[in-house]
Amino acid sequence: MSISPALRDQLIAAAHEATKHAYAPYSKFLVGAALLTADGKIFSGCNVENASYGLTICAERNAIFAAVAASNVTPQGKITIQAIAVVNSENVPCSPCGACRQVIAEFGKDIVVYYQGNDGIKESTIAELLPDSFSL
Ligand code: THU
Repeated sequence: MSISPALRDQLIAAAHEATKHAYAPYSKFLVGAALLTADGKIFSGCNVENASYGLTICAERNAIFAAVAASNVTPQGKITIQAIAVVNSENVPCSPCGACRQVIAEFGKDIVVYYQGNDGIKESTIAELLPDSFSL
């Protein structure tokens, strides 16, 4: 499944919109993510921090968990993700953290990841970002 430039731009715009909802009083780093499912739906998420820092959840995982929670697929919850975009309000380089890479890889090794690089938006597959990911 290839993603048109228009859809890619829509996904990145949805990720930017999601940064407006981020709860990041500690880092002040506002992150937004948006994913595209196989049936053409877009789900977004933002980072949600906590005073107990380790309980913070990243934008990417919140987007994926929202998509799973809204899904009605068989096997239950096994959504198909075509692509996920992650951006931040400062437009500084920010690729998905290791934990989020593992969670993205759970839903398909060919998932396209758009993220802020040094010089605009970069594109990789999750298999490129997390080779040999853990699976059961
Ligand atoms: N963060 C994300 O939301 N996604 C990432 O892939 C990297 C980091 C968030 C977590 C925390 O709220 C803030 O960015 C600073 O680490």
